[in-house]
Amino acid sequence: GTRAQPSGQGRRGACLLAALLLCSSLLPLHAQDYTPTPGAPGTLDVPPTPKGPPDQAEVCGKTSFQGKIFGGQMAKPGRWPWQASLLFRGSHICGAVLIDKNWVASAAHCFQRSRKPSDYRVLLGYHQLGSPTEYSRQMTVNRLILHENFNKVHNQGNDIILIQLHKPVTYSSHILPACVPENTTKVPLDRSCWISGWGMIREDEFLAAPFPLQDGEVFLMDDKRCEAFFQTPEVNTFQYKAIKDDMICAVDFVSGKYICRGDSGGPLVCLLNGSWYVIGLASWTAACLESASSPNIFTKVSHFSDWIKKKKQETPDADPFSAPPEEKAPTLIGWRSFGTGTTIKPRICVTALSSQILLLQSIWFRIP
Ligand SMILES: *[C@@H]1O[C@H](CO)[C@@H](O)[C@H](O)[C@H]1NC(C)=O
Ligand SMILES: *[C@@H]1O[C@H](CO)[C@@H](O)[C@H](O)[C@H]1NC(C)=O
Repeated sequence: GTRAQPSGQGRRGACLLAALLLCSSLLPLHAQDYTPTPGAPGTLDVPPTPKGPPDQAEVCGKTSFQGKIFGGQMAKPGRWPWQASLLFRGSHICGAVLIDKNWVASAAHCFQRSRKPSDYRVLLGYHQLGSPTEYSRQMTVNRLILHENFNKVHNQGNDIILIQLHKPVTYSSHILPACVPENTTKVPLDRSCWISGWGMIREDEFLAAPFPLQDGEVFLMDDKRCEAFFQTPEVNTFQYKAIKDDMICAVDFVSGKYICRGDSGGPLVCLLNGSWYVIGLASWTAACLESASSPNIFTKVSHFSDWIKKKKQETPDADPFSAPPEEKAPTLIGWRSFGTGTTIKPRICVTALSSQILLLQSIWFRIP
């Protein structure tokens, strides 16, 4: 593969420390429920469109996109109409996914810089971040509902946030929600699933202007095989399990070099009964452990489907009169970080790794 090697011992040491840090969680691990369904039907027929006004369940997870798809490529415009870009003070920092006209889901770790809704915007209906179209919208944020136990119970655990928009978005061929799985939804492991994002070039390579959305086909990986990527001798000493029951692993067998594919918070979708379901939200990766084709780890959305329902139910609708005036869909011009002037790598491996190293430092401070 053409994946860049981590630069020397320092980076490797940091990765090892990050891996060791994962050991500090001592909660029991429950069995994952993603087991292959025996004799799962391979048919993916789209059910006939029902009459009458479509409700949420009927409208989600469909695209107007037709045609054969191939892995590791630029996404076709309109192929992933739930894909959102999360802007922090005008810069893309993470992916996100539209789940209905008022709500977007993303990864909680994308919100460590600020919890102020006014610092964020959600871009919808974009294909190229550097080239908005008539479909593109910039939405303001009314409320952020971070998971109460994010990063508390175990590292990177409960990595989910709900973003309530000020105004409901108008659906179009380029803006549609993905379906949210039920708490019982199971995806056969052999089912092909897709990830998409704007941050998915190699470790040392940024997506170039005009920043077209990238996608790639992945397969879900059972947690035992996924866990094996973390079983270094050091880690084993602690009897540690990295993959908790709120996480799900996926791996790209098609091109193992693109291990960092996917933006934090961005969707992992699988086609179930003819509709695309958001099965995961990009959370972190084992890339720094230098395995050939490392799995990416996603927040398992079915684990949070009751939490999502509850939060949506108990949250009042945004007051449309308090919403700021509609904003023009912006044209993004480049990757810059905030304050330091250095470029950032908007990918899940870097984000996740730095958050683990940050956590490590705080532990060092506490235990001098
Ligand atoms: C799944 O959700 C249903 C309601 O939609 C609830 O009655 C049930 O207890 C939930 N199951 C689990 C395992 O949480
Ligand atoms: C797909 O259809 C099967 C059979 O009707 C059903 O049991 C299953 O729950 C459906 N899956 C989803 C995600 O709706």
